[in-house]
Amino acid sequence: MKVDVILGLQWGDEGKGKIVDVFSPRYDVIARFQGGPNAGHTIEFDGKKFILHTIPSGIFHRNSMNVIGNGVIIDPVILFREIGKLSEAGMKPWENLLIANRAHLILPTHRLLDAVYESAKKDAKIGSTLKGIGPTYTDKYARNGIRVGNICYPGFRKMYESLKELHLKTVTTYGFDLASFTLDGLPFAEYETQWFESIEKMKDLKVVDAEVFINKSLVEGRSVLAEGAQGTMLDVDFGSYPFVTSSSTVAAGVCTGLGVSPHNIGKVFGVFKAYCTRVGSGPFPTELENETGNKLRTGGKEFGSTTGRPRRCGWLDLPALRYSIMLNGVDSLIMMKADVLNPFEKLGVCTAYKESGKLLSSYPFELSSEGLEPQYTEMEGWNTDLSSNTSMERLPLPLKKYIKFIEDFVELPIDTVSIGPDRLQTLQTK
Ligand code: GDP
Ligand code: IMO
Ligand code: MG
Repeated sequence: MKVDVILGLQWGDEGKGKIVDVFSPRYDVIARFQGGPNAGHTIEFDGKKFILHTIPSGIFHRNSMNVIGNGVIIDPVILFREIGKLSEAGMKPWENLLIANRAHLILPTHRLLDAVYESAKKDAKIGSTLKGIGPTYTDKYARNGIRVGNICYPGFRKMYESLKELHLKTVTTYGFDLASFTLDGLPFAEYETQWFESIEKMKDLKVVDAEVFINKSLVEGRSVLAEGAQGTMLDVDFGSYPFVTSSSTVAAGVCTGLGVSPHNIGKVFGVFKAYCTRVGSGPFPTELENETGNKLRTGGKEFGSTTGRPRRCGWLDLPALRYSIMLNGVDSLIMMKADVLNPFEKLGVCTAYKESGKLLSSYPFELSSEGLEPQYTEMEGWNTDLSSNTSMERLPLPLKKYIKFIEDFVELPIDTVSIGPDRLQTLQTK
């Protein structure tokens, strides 16, 4: 068996959580391979709505094992808040959840550093979710990090204190002091207490060599689905740097984030919205800072699942989509939120960029919005409610044409179309 992958092709929030949940019954194992609680993956069914930050989106299917891979970074407080919400809903997520002992821990001081670095950037803020992502991955690569497997060590507290001390020196250098910080509305000391309580509770979870579990699953014929967080345009190498996250969000990240060989990557499913959104700062060539953008935001309920911030909205960007498809070796496309375009008479689709009046032949190094002019093709909207649609064949003709236009441009099939947030509002070709 090989590991199939579901990942985002835009700037995150494409609807990955919903699709992983829909695909989960076909897989034995669902595994997150990167990112941390900066992710917010929404799943809706039976009139209920859940937002997951750390736990894989396969958790609602009792028969699938869910793995938090070594490439993920974990804030124990946030993990246990999630477990708490699922338990309130009558679930026992600890029964089908495994955590990689090699996954790194987000310390409360990583979150302080995130806030300090962002604040020091003044006008050049990344718009980070302030969950400690950048500083935790920095410590991982600087070989200072603390891993989940360390929590049972007698010297764990000492490891924690010496890393905290290092962080606090930086905080002080930047002219901040501990007393001025709150984390999720709690004074630092209170958050830290909750953090240690959560570490204790973590000892009762199934902490394993996740890479061994995944590879053994493949050898024994169990199917594995890797769940991406963020999106390709937020990838640390290929996104609009420096306005990116700090992990490899692309398919290659599955190999390091789960410990699988490139030979063992199977089908790659690329998820994209029928339009574009971005939350946080950074270039966004097709952004619509006008009534049309507001209409997309309102219709698509485009407010961050993790931070509640309004998402920036714009037309579909096909050069960016084609670039993402290339980077991930996508086999099959999944188009989300087609229903959000229902009220539009006309739609814009960006098919090229011009810079200084010249058409660009390749994807630009710097996606700076100034000087870069997106070229649009205008398309007919379908202007019809899609809620009664039960199959791809029955979709209105203008939507079929929209789909065909995208397929022809990127030379890949769109095999799944999502027409609403619920699990059941999903149309598939096969
Ligand atoms: P993720 O981070 O990629 O999992 O996406 P998010 O959960 O952050 O954001 C996607 C949002 O769109 C969530 O509120 C979903 O419930 C919602 N959603 C997903 N698919 C559809 C769809 O086809 N139509 C509509 N209207 N909403 C959708
Ligand atoms: P999901 O998995 C959308 C954005 C932040 C910010 C930048 C860096 O739900 O799609 P970070 O907290 O990583 O330091 O933030 O990346 N960002 C996301 N945007 N969806 C996400 O995750 C995101 N995770 C991070 O807004 O611009
Ligand atoms: Mg999200």
